[in-house]
Amino acid sequence: MPRRSPLAALTAAGLTLLTTAVTPTAALADTPGGDDAPLTVTLQDAGSGDARPADAGAAGLEAGTRRTASRERGTAALAAARRTTLRDASRTESKDTFTPGSAGLGDPYFPLAGNGGYDVGHYDIALRFDPRTHRIAATTTIKATATKNLSRFDLDYSGPAITNLEVNGKRASYRRKGQELVVTPKEGLPSGAAFTVEVSYAGAPKAINDKALGLEGWINTKDGATVVSEPDGARSWFPANDNPQDKATFSFRVSVPVGLTVLANGEPKNPGIVPVRNGYTTVRWEMSQPMATYLAMVAIGKFKVTEGAVAGVPNITAYDPAVAKKSKYLHRTTAKAIAWESKVFGGYPFSSTGGIGDKLDVGYALETQGRPVYDGGPSEDLEIVHELAHQWFGDSVGLRSWKDIWLNEGFATYAEWLYQEQHGGPSAQSIFDKHYKQKGSFWDEKTGNPGRADMFDWEAIYLRGGMTLHALRKKIGDDTFFTLLKTWTEDNKYGTVTTRDFVDLAEKLSGQDLDPLFDAWLYKAAKPKL
Ligand code: TRP
Ligand code: ZN
Repeated sequence: MPRRSPLAALTAAGLTLLTTAVTPTAALADTPGGDDAPLTVTLQDAGSGDARPADAGAAGLEAGTRRTASRERGTAALAAARRTTLRDASRTESKDTFTPGSAGLGDPYFPLAGNGGYDVGHYDIALRFDPRTHRIAATTTIKATATKNLSRFDLDYSGPAITNLEVNGKRASYRRKGQELVVTPKEGLPSGAAFTVEVSYAGAPKAINDKALGLEGWINTKDGATVVSEPDGARSWFPANDNPQDKATFSFRVSVPVGLTVLANGEPKNPGIVPVRNGYTTVRWEMSQPMATYLAMVAIGKFKVTEGAVAGVPNITAYDPAVAKKSKYLHRTTAKAIAWESKVFGGYPFSSTGGIGDKLDVGYALETQGRPVYDGGPSEDLEIVHELAHQWFGDSVGLRSWKDIWLNEGFATYAEWLYQEQHGGPSAQSIFDKHYKQKGSFWDEKTGNPGRADMFDWEAIYLRGGMTLHALRKKIGDDTFFTLLKTWTEDNKYGTVTTRDFVDLAEKLSGQDLDPLFDAWLYKAAKPKL
């Protein structure tokens, strides 16, 4: 058999070709429609019926969530409940005590994002999409490890109605409370134990519309849907530990009608014959490097896909031809940017690259891991350079806290300046000078802790963040600065970091005290002196 490109399997058309045993329906068997018509979507809206009460035995163990709830609502009854449960908990504290995981991880901007008490290792997201109704039927299977004795734990979830929920293969009770999905397994989960959570759900996912940050999460398009979830939109389409601290690997199995194309993070895995059933077929993608939940992406629609290679990995780009005929431009520029960035930032961290041009009407591009999404298609080379720089700064080297967002955006912006400097454009110095002269309220902001609403402020985060790096470069010199960039990406590959970690490394490599510089640029609400 001639060797075929794996790409042929991306488009669910004429798929008598390639690839081995795909078992697309296995994970969907629990979804409505079940075995009878495994791939024909008979979506029943479970409506409010999904909210089952937690079992009575768990009531006394709810300290964690009540604590959070009482802070938010401040009712006397909840405060009293908190006092009681806290006292009870301290009295009975021992090795065999099982208590709830917390409802958040303490992020100052997104206190409920992420959850305490466990660590996710892998998400398997199997979903079937009906382009006529934009509804899905999905099962997300989470493999996690308890980090304490858990009587109960939370997931972040704001998606369609839940139809089934199991922990370690047994039905668990659950209830939904705002963005929290509170799960009480039949038996407690001992610290250190691996466990599996399987959540099935069906309905039409809705994007999250944040007053300050705009649309994020599941975005329906004319011919399908594409996901962009920064900072907290992942919960719109799968139950998640939705905090950048908890990275995990991901598998995607997306069933669509023959003729539509599916892309996701990572690489296509369709080895063998892809069966078509009732007009639907399933496309598999795999992200094998650790990924934050906000970077998880699927894109479904009509795409022109181009396949190539750069920096020793496949380059897979896709463009909605209805948006623009720029698929060659996206492909070529992606390769050019990755080749240059691999030289300046160190080896490319993921096992494939690419990009997706589609019409989402969210007004921004996102650095979805391995394969950024460009709303309306990229408008210029620098947009591609920016999103791909995030692969090192933001994706591989991730945030521990959203207030350090300048570590993502300042670096990606400075990558644009370096790119221009090294490609016959203006020097980084002249770009710095131009912005330094700019007047504006962004000089009164703290780039290192801008507040939730300003986390994507163009001047305060992108420009002043970029200027911070240029000021650092001037202070420590080019040799140390470029060594610092590479050491930073290498030392923290696939991990998470804080601004302090960066300052420490810069001080170590330069032998200089850099606190005054970073204080002035990141933490003073004033224009730094030169
Ligand atoms: N991180 C994106 C980029 O600069 C931008 C982005 C993501 C954004 N989500 C957002 C901007 C929400 C504004 C609002 O590449
Ligand atoms: Zn960015």
